[in-house]
Amino acid sequence: MASAVAASVEVVENAATASHHTLPSSWWKSEKIFEIEKRAIFNQSWMYCTHASRFKKAGDYYSFTVVGINFFIIKTKGEGNLKAFHNVCRHRAYPVIRKEKGSSTILGCKYHGWSYNTEGKLNKAPQFDDVEGFKKEDNSLFEIKTHVTPEGLVFVNFSAGEVPSFDEWFDGLSGELKEYDFEDYEYHMSYELDGQFNWKTLMDGYQECYHCPTAHPGLNAAFKMETYKVAPRTRYCRHYAQIVKEDIEIEADDKDADEESSWFGFGKKKTAVESKPEKKKNPGGDFDGLWVYLYPNNGVNCYSDCWYSIRVLPQSATRTILQYDIYTKKGLAEEKKKEFVDFLQLVEIEDFNLCQLTQKNLNQGIYSTGVLHPTKENGVLFYQKEVAKMVKEHFAKEQEAGHLINPASLDTGRTKESDELEGICKSLECQGNNPETTGLQW
Ligand code: FES
Ligand SMILES: [Fe+2]
Repeated sequence: MASAVAASVEVVENAATASHHTLPSSWWKSEKIFEIEKRAIFNQSWMYCTHASRFKKAGDYYSFTVVGINFFIIKTKGEGNLKAFHNVCRHRAYPVIRKEKGSSTILGCKYHGWSYNTEGKLNKAPQFDDVEGFKKEDNSLFEIKTHVTPEGLVFVNFSAGEVPSFDEWFDGLSGELKEYDFEDYEYHMSYELDGQFNWKTLMDGYQECYHCPTAHPGLNAAFKMETYKVAPRTRYCRHYAQIVKEDIEIEADDKDADEESSWFGFGKKKTAVESKPEKKKNPGGDFDGLWVYLYPNNGVNCYSDCWYSIRVLPQSATRTILQYDIYTKKGLAEEKKKEFVDFLQLVEIEDFNLCQLTQKNLNQGIYSTGVLHPTKENGVLFYQKEVAKMVKEHFAKEQEAGHLINPASLDTGRTKESDELEGICKSLECQGNNPETTGLQW
């Protein structure tokens, strides 16, 4: 377990040299930018999904939707590995899994009855047995690249082509994860928020604590904010702050709470804590945490009693779903769990409200860019620089190729005729006939 590491941490300064301004605000509201971000970033990055401890037996599965891609992760029967598959039947593309979670060692498609095993292999295709040339082995589910760290963190990468290995992508991360004993924790609960803002609006706030003294009175009491530092690494950042060891008062900043905000599944409105604050033990515990931002859209934050993950799931340029999973120390008292969840939700709703109102102003088109503090907002510079780099590189590739390039799309089952028909579609899109897909026109 890590302890008292904050004081010795050097902030990596290279992030501050790229630019001291934000990217232009059009990148927070343009659907065309969002479309190219999907192709350039989300469809070829290693992205955190869940923790392996949630899969108890063969056939246990969880389904996810990330940037419009539906997939599920399942524990296989043979080796007991975790595998991810696109939730798309190989017959006529109906979703094979229709629940958020479940358990089955045979996955039956409810359209025409094809079924698959936990390895994604086609098990049965009714009445296809005597169809000449039909091969079951050519019709397995589409597998998605998966990486499970020794600590049980599960990542996927949608790219159908070559990608950097996980350890290359997040160089150095595996050493840092070892500081926390993930095995000592179990899944507790999940919840989500549906926000009217761009995914980067949330990430901007997530990547700095410059706003904490103003916007998070509770958090401000729990940490020595002057020690807060963001240390950029390779496509991830470690956040450090010394926790206040004495008893603290948790107070909500509910003065400007947005009326529209609510916790789905909880029925909570405005703020999570509404009772009068009293001095009590810091819910953050006494461990100076392992808090990690994982480019592009995830975070894992570990405290003494609990750890939680956040998945920031863009739905459109101006809508984003935030999903939180909380894990608690095995045997932790219910009261302690509740205290931590309340503390977390208080901070999260404060951030959510900041994002809602910021996005409204970004949408106006008045503001374009703003100046960023070179050390207090170095984490923002770091990830925005990576966003700009990946988009610019991908844009150049598409310009050169003369068509859109989606790294996640699969080229299976092609025939001469399907290529010809696909060609017609592509040329119509390039002429600008399809407003959804005129990617090279902007
Ligand atoms: S689409 Fe799945 S069986 Fe036909
Ligand atoms: Fe915040």
